Amino acid sequence: MFPTAALFSLALAAVASAQQVGNLTAESHPSLTWQQCTSSGCTDVDASITIDANWRWLHTVEGYANCYTGNEFDDSVCTDGVTCASSCALDGADYSGTYGITTSGDALSLKFVTSGQNKNIGSRTYLMNGDDTYQMFQLKNKEFTFTVDMSTLPCGLNGALYFVEMAEDGGLSAYEGNEAGAKYGTGYCDSQCPHDIKFINGEANSDGWTPSEGDPNAGTGTYGSCCSEMDIWEANSQASAYTPHVCTVDGQTRCEGTDCGDGDDRYSGVCDKDGCDFNSYRMGDTTFLGEGLTIDTTQPITVVTQFITADNTTTGALSEIRRLYVQGGEVIANSATNIPGMDAYDSITDEFCESQKEAFGDQNYFGTLGGVAGMGESLDRGHVLVMSIWDDHAVNMLWLDSDYPLDKDASEPGVSRGPCGTDTGVPTDVESESPDATVIYSSIKFGDIGSTY
Ligand SMILES: *[C@@H]1O[C@H](CO)[C@@H](O)[C@H](O)[C@H]1NC(C)=O
Ligand SMILES: *[C@@H]1O[C@H](CO)[C@@H](O)[C@H](O)[C@H]1NC(C)=O
Repeated sequence: MFPTAALFSLALAAVASAQQVGNLTAESHPSLTWQQCTSSGCTDVDASITIDANWRWLHTVEGYANCYTGNEFDDSVCTDGVTCASSCALDGADYSGTYGITTSGDALSLKFVTSGQNKNIGSRTYLMNGDDTYQMFQLKNKEFTFTVDMSTLPCGLNGALYFVEMAEDGGLSAYEGNEAGAKYGTGYCDSQCPHDIKFINGEANSDGWTPSEGDPNAGTGTYGSCCSEMDIWEANSQASAYTPHVCTVDGQTRCEGTDCGDGDDRYSGVCDKDGCDFNSYRMGDTTFLGEGLTIDTTQPITVVTQFITADNTTTGALSEIRRLYVQGGEVIANSATNIPGMDAYDSITDEFCESQKEAFGDQNYFGTLGGVAGMGESLDRGHVLVMSIWDDHAVNMLWLDSDYPLDKDASEPGVSRGPCGTDTGVPTDVESESPDATVIYSSIKFGDIGSTY
């Protein structure tokens, strides 16, 4: 079907009640090929990506007045969340012009800052299955591989490729107020229960919306959007981590109050915000990944992640999340932990998590909420692939590539996570100094263990 025809009928159907679809720009998803693999080889899947709804132009259904400008909803239209959803429409995206997003064959490029008519910073995209639904992945007893070029990402940036337990249709069928759905990138959630999502459960998050003090484009509403998250790759040219985060909720779930786990509620919320991270530098091998190191971040890196189950079947309990790298034609084992009081581990297991949390004096909320097997139960329900680039207005990405938290001595175990200075990663600095920083994700492959590299 031609996109314009689909949009026209959607807009007509939507007039009564919803987070609408606008029709100034036809939504045309950039194409992206990926591969499904078995022991007998890999086959191409011709697919595409969509950009998250939060980045899209939100304008009135009647005409094209902004419903959201800078970091605020227009209160005259968005008098409450339901009214806002029925009065405002998400529009199609100009991927390269507005957002600096391009694809070619099996490669997706996300540019950090684009200065078109409106300045854009970062982006979050999802792999699609057809025009209207996200591609769902069942990762247990499978292997996921991709290649990343993050050579231009400085301290403070995060080229992130990860999975979250979003709904396949972005909440279109579950919420009357959502007429846009996955095609327009709705329904995001993650284990931080983010409050900066403009629409949750088919309603605008406009009630109690507070514009961010430091971020001219973002704010926070009363509600958060929670779900389990499997971070395959959060990284820049200086540091990287892979991290499962479990939640006690099934699927995308709107939170309010204590459940969101904000501030002092961190260890009483429904999600494990810390996760159980494997960052080679933090785990004691400071010469493993970086410029010119064993895993050389000046060159493309192929990242292999294996989801091992207790009985080697797709239905068994998830027991281990393994990591391998391929670079320059060579398969390279993950680094091993080198931390006083810890055995050598090179993968994520419950034993690794317990041992790491103890060595670092961190609370093991990951274990409390279900640990590795709990992550597996979430994976059973299916996850959506997210590819993004972002900077961090909360803590300058210090948790990834520098010393964090700042009130602890950097010599204490677990505090130092990368070589970046504690004064790096300030958004206004990275945005002005590295606007052209670009992450390229390519050669996505998914299949049986051992079949993708
Ligand atoms: C879409 O186009 C139709 C017809 O051109 C128009 O009546 C309608 O208001 C538009 N929708 C939005 C959300 O602007
Ligand atoms: C699962 O496979 C691994 C690697 O092939 C093997 O070492 C292990 O014994 C198997 N486990 C079970 C329960 O079959």
